[in-house]
Amino acid sequence: MPVDPAAFPPDFRWGAATASYQIEGAAHEDGRGESVWDRFSATPGKVRNGDTGEVACDFYHRFAGDVGLMADLGLDAFRFSIAWPRVLPEGRGRVNQAGLDFYDRLVDELLAHEIEPFATLFHWDTPQALEDAGGWPVRETAEAFAEYAEIVAARLGDRVRHWMTHNEPWVYAWIGHSWGDHAPGRTSEPDAVAAAHHLLLSHGWAVEAIRRAAPGAQVGITLSLSHAYAASDTPEDEAAAWEIDGGTNRWFLDPIFRGAYPADLLERNKLVAPLVHDGDLEAMGAPLDFLGVNYYFRHVVSAGADGPRLVRDPEAPQTDMGWEVYPDGLHALLTRLAEEYAPPAIYVTENGAAFGDVRVHDGRVHDPERTAYLQSHVTAVGRAVAAGVPVKGYFVWSLLDNFEWAHGYAKRFGIVYIDYPTLERVPKDSFYWYRDFIGSRPRQPAPAPVAAG
Ligand code: FCB
Repeated sequence: MPVDPAAFPPDFRWGAATASYQIEGAAHEDGRGESVWDRFSATPGKVRNGDTGEVACDFYHRFAGDVGLMADLGLDAFRFSIAWPRVLPEGRGRVNQAGLDFYDRLVDELLAHEIEPFATLFHWDTPQALEDAGGWPVRETAEAFAEYAEIVAARLGDRVRHWMTHNEPWVYAWIGHSWGDHAPGRTSEPDAVAAAHHLLLSHGWAVEAIRRAAPGAQVGITLSLSHAYAASDTPEDEAAAWEIDGGTNRWFLDPIFRGAYPADLLERNKLVAPLVHDGDLEAMGAPLDFLGVNYYFRHVVSAGADGPRLVRDPEAPQTDMGWEVYPDGLHALLTRLAEEYAPPAIYVTENGAAFGDVRVHDGRVHDPERTAYLQSHVTAVGRAVAAGVPVKGYFVWSLLDNFEWAHGYAKRFGIVYIDYPTLERVPKDSFYWYRDFIGSRPRQPAPAPVAAG
């Protein structure tokens, strides 16, 4: 069923998302400090093929051309992240004006093309100096983040209205600190719990700091959320699904919207309790203007002998990441968030798919699976909007093919193909689909004339 742009309100924002380390390159330029991802990707065996973000898409130098592409696409909004070590090379203290200048130029370029900037303050590139001083498992890193947030908001807050403190704290805390597959590559569950607590705490502090520095700012956080389905309706599978939901979704949603960690996760509560100071939960629960939702797949969970097990239907369609394509999971998630957590607004801040794209003899990149993925997920969002869920915008992940963390450049999520040897940009067929879709929506009503006198 083709998705109907008229199903969305006229002020719904259509966007695309990116992240600093994944696209910028220029890792040593203009005083940028080292980040944990520089260190991790330079460590043999950590990233596929030894890939690093040294050059990436070279967005740092090519951003004006890329904003031109966004304008051709007809984007209303662009979500990007700010590299903390460009702004504070040592993480705290000395501010590197040249780093701030880059984001200043980017924001001006976006606004010159009537594209609204949506800025994320932390998309995983912690300054290495802070990691060396203990990283997110220590409370001082949360203090440093609040200082950084205030510095950036003071510089850009006259033009950037939408701010996200963090991107996917679950992924950064667990994949980076317990599983060891992402920077900083730790393998300790207590470190993951401590990192998550300080990420949440720093989020709350940063909300205050941003509002202080940029009055009128719309402030939120982006979470990775996967609706958890029980593999069957047995009580065991239902309980297993609830546990997975707790570990990934509720561990973040509950403190943010209810001011408490979910009580049912006993082991985790034991680990976090000594870290929770008076006032932490109040800070973490600071009222937000919006929730950012990143959705890629659902979880299907059954009860195994050693705890919950994620199961997969081998017949189900999947992307090049091995992630199941399941658009209804996005609809279910959005509906549930509205019912149970009632955020004032929701933005789908990431949704998209990797496929093994190739540039063929006609010079183009035909990616019908990605177009189908985007269409079906946009349709799911439209159903949620029709049901009254306050979704205000949708951002495709990603504008450009980019450095996909531990997968390096092997996974392509862009609606624009990057020919890495030349860094040429080639819009894929999905780009043209998105452009036609955005272009075919009903026109915004003209603003009412302002009465004179
Ligand atoms: C999300 C990340 C984003 C990208 C996509 C595929 O978890 O926020 O940077 O890697 O997955």
